[in-house]
Amino acid sequence: MSTCILKGRNMKGTISLLIITLLVGFIALTGCSKKPSDKGDKSTKAKWTIGMSQCNLGEPWRVQMNADVKMAADKHPEIKVVYKDAQNDTLKQRSQMEEFISAGVNLIIISPKEAAPLTPVVAQAYQKGIPVIVLDRRVLGDQYTCFIGADNKKIGKAAGKWIVDKLGGKGKVVELMGLMTSTPGQDRHSGFRDGTKGSDLEIIFEADMKWLEPDSRKEMESALARFDKIDLVYAHNDPGAHGAYLAAQAAGREKNIIFVGIDALPQEGQAYVKQGILQASFEYPTGGKEAIELGLDILNGKKVEKEVTLSSRVFTKDNIDAGGEWLKE
Ligand code: FRU
Repeated sequence: MSTCILKGRNMKGTISLLIITLLVGFIALTGCSKKPSDKGDKSTKAKWTIGMSQCNLGEPWRVQMNADVKMAADKHPEIKVVYKDAQNDTLKQRSQMEEFISAGVNLIIISPKEAAPLTPVVAQAYQKGIPVIVLDRRVLGDQYTCFIGADNKKIGKAAGKWIVDKLGGKGKVVELMGLMTSTPGQDRHSGFRDGTKGSDLEIIFEADMKWLEPDSRKEMESALARFDKIDLVYAHNDPGAHGAYLAAQAAGREKNIIFVGIDALPQEGQAYVKQGILQASFEYPTGGKEAIELGLDILNGKKVEKEVTLSSRVFTKDNIDAGGEWLKE
């Protein structure tokens, strides 16, 4: 008898366990638990895929560009952005572009490492009917939908004029150039030469530091070894100016030299100006937000301008608290 009762209890337990198991299974299958919210799950709603080809993510300015793209894209559930980082390798960037083309993305945003070698793949995407927005550094020719960037010649020229003014028309200058196979390097150089024309400035040393702080530091070490007197360093970007500053500091000469850079990110160039490391930094906006806005216009069938020029400011210790000063025409 007692055995029987016991058996009955066991039976009851087994049945309850079975019911619970079935219930859990039912909830899992019917999705009664929590449905993924439509708001959070962008991929279910995205109508268009945008391929974003970034030439590298090793520099703060490029990390900022991707963050600007993401911030703008997150406001639009109808788009999904796929990011690729070419790690500063032109061939890798070319094959990543080819991947976007064969995946049939709806639009491509590319910030190319170099102009000439990336021109054919951009043209290939464009000719296949994929709209291409070229951001910050240019490609050659006109086989793309739109270019977005600030005017590097104008920035270089404004830097040249600011430097002539700062040095009272004469002095010994080191120019540390960005990658000269990329268009901002070429334009920041020619603009600068234009802005210093007619002055008695002497460019005693120039080198291509390829946009990279460690390279810039090395080049500056050579300049310091060769010249006892350097009045000013004009670097094509803030990491370059900072690398030069570090070299001068290691040689105990940083207090006798003025450092000028370009980019003016709040957390980088603007901070250096506040700390007195740089005397001026010229803003180079990333254009990430504008690329998404324009991309949406293109995807929605609106006609866009072939060229969008972003404005730029100069930051010095005198104007930084007031938000810098816009470059004049
Ligand atoms: C980052 C960067 C910036 C510069 C821009 C020019 O890779 O070197 O510092 O302003 O590229 O394309």
